[in-house]
Amino acid sequence: MTSSDTEVSGYHCQVDRIRASSSRGGYSVIVGTDLLGRLGEVVDNELGVRPRAVVSNVTVAPLYGQRAAQALGTPPCLELEDGEVHKRWPTVETLCGSWLEQGLHRADSVLAIGGGVVTDTVGFAAAVYMRGISWVAVPTTLLAMVDAAIGGKTGVNLEGGKNLVGALWHPQLVVADVSTLSTLPERELAAGLAEVIKTAWIGDRSILRLLDRPVAAYCDCAPATWHELIVRSIQVKVRVVETDERESGPRKALNLGHTLGHALEAATEYRRLLHGEAVAWGLMAVESLARRRGLLTADSGALLQAALARLGPLPSIADLSWWRVLEAIVRDKKRDDLGVAWVLPTDEGVALDQRVSAAELQQVFAELQQT
Ligand SMILES: NC(=O)c1ccc[n+]([C@@H]2O[C@H](COP(=O)([O-])OP(=O)(O)OC[C@H]3O[C@@H](n4cnc5c(N)ncnc54)[C@H](O)[C@@H]3O)[C@@H](O)[C@H]2O)c1
Ligand SMILES: [Zn+2]
Repeated sequence: MTSSDTEVSGYHCQVDRIRASSSRGGYSVIVGTDLLGRLGEVVDNELGVRPRAVVSNVTVAPLYGQRAAQALGTPPCLELEDGEVHKRWPTVETLCGSWLEQGLHRADSVLAIGGGVVTDTVGFAAAVYMRGISWVAVPTTLLAMVDAAIGGKTGVNLEGGKNLVGALWHPQLVVADVSTLSTLPERELAAGLAEVIKTAWIGDRSILRLLDRPVAAYCDCAPATWHELIVRSIQVKVRVVETDERESGPRKALNLGHTLGHALEAATEYRRLLHGEAVAWGLMAVESLARRRGLLTADSGALLQAALARLGPLPSIADLSWWRVLEAIVRDKKRDDLGVAWVLPTDEGVALDQRVSAAELQQVFAELQQT
């Protein structure tokens, strides 16, 4: 792999460090195997100061959270309820209350270990507790490793939509232990791979070569394959975010597949589709839109389609009402005065700020419903 510039010595196994810069200063993303038992050592090496509280959820805490707390010598890991429905204000209040009770000050830090729901919620609570304390992200889903834990976006959902309250609050360290993926359900793995495909399309097509098998076969993949896939995806995301932290330009590329994706999640009340699955449907839609407009050649389109097909069948959207989906798109927070800004794939990368008419999308949506 091409990571000789990032490989870190002294960890007795392959560990890569990707440096990310942000308006709050730089931070490291450490990727490796069996890092949790040595989390104290990793944090000492990278930061010198240990977080004083560990937060996870009821699923991840028994698997990894309590082990992380032990390795760091903190009180037992706080266990949040599991699920997107708990990425809400009351959880933020619970977290802040617990930190206050524990006597956490402005100079202390906390550690979030779990999927994107945990890292988004804890990162946001860290952003607002005492007007902002530092936090460490330990993502344990593929999606959180390559996407949610990187880039500083934190937040919670409102009744009216996802991620409508949030803060740009970068972690001071990200530790991705590839070994934790061994317990991740196959469906979650496939959902994470959808974001990997998106990332590959935006910034490193060679990642697609690693995606050469059906998703079930990934469960048997050597950790080295996962390691490479994750490191390369993170490198792309870090690069994109560094050029445009506040999403005024190039960072919008990361929304590829997300306009329809978010709308499908909303139209199914966040119950049917995992985020990555909705993104996979969204990627199929933009592939078709871009091909119809001549932005994407048939060959490039086929490459994207083939990668998505390897994810296996997605939950059906055949029964979804077009009007509900359209309504959700119009409410998209990426909407500006001109309508909804779409990101479409091109042969070389993506085209930003594209306008798509309702009629055009309706046709593509009807096509998708029949697949
Ligand atoms: N901040 C960002 O830039 C950003 C980017 C993408 C997605 N997100 C957010 O991330 C969230 C989705 O994240 P996700 O896909 O990680 O979902 P998730 O956090 O809900 O995790 C998926 C499921 O896997 C479980 N789990 C986590 N790690 C596990 C492991 N190693 N073994 C077994 N089970 C495990 C979780 O408890 C949960 O049940 C959404 O809320 C989305 O909005 C944020
Ligand atoms: Zn996403």
